[in-house]
Amino acid sequence: MALDFKPIDSLYEGLVALIPAMFANATPVLAKGRRPIDCGLKFIDGRRLLGDGKTWEGLIAGLAAGAIVGVLLAMILGEPQAAIIGVLSSVGALVGDIIASFIKRRAGLERGAPAPVLDQLNFYIGAITILYIAGFTITLTIFIALAIISGIAHITANIVAYKLKLKNVPW
Ligand code: CTP
Ligand code: MG
Repeated sequence: MALDFKPIDSLYEGLVALIPAMFANATPVLAKGRRPIDCGLKFIDGRRLLGDGKTWEGLIAGLAAGAIVGVLLAMILGEPQAAIIGVLSSVGALVGDIIASFIKRRAGLERGAPAPVLDQLNFYIGAITILYIAGFTITLTIFIALAIISGIAHITANIVAYKLKLKNVPW
């Protein structure tokens, strides 16, 4: 059965779009990156543009992971569009995470400081926004369902990463 992603109006289609973004979001912490994307630059407020928590290594590892998962899903489902959607949602997830760090620094929050909701849903909002711009709109019901799944998955993944000593804080 061919999936029709225009619009994304079933949980199945939604998950095909979301899963690559989840991998893109969860992988950067494994990369142990050391090259900050902002190159150490400061904004006009004297604070870091993004901070040391957003690195090139993390970005590239996240993009690669998301793209690979998207392509694998496309192959497993026999649905070429899933690859395009996976790459788009992965890019969106990482851009969303970077924008969230920019916002956190402007709010005076140090790297790693918790920002409830923003920390959990930045990747999801980024992914859905890029898909939306590319013409893959989503129904409100599926949007809310995926937001809940994203929040739970993010919280669970970060607790696991903390227990495995991959992260210093459980958020
Ligand atoms: N990470 C990375 N590159 C990215 C995103 C994340 O290297 N593009 C790594 C960093 O080691 C980061 C960790 O993954 O510390 C956890 O990511 P996140 O919680 O998003 O970053 P924070 O350290 O909390 O930084 P911020 O306050 O800016 O969100
Ligand atoms: Mg964090």
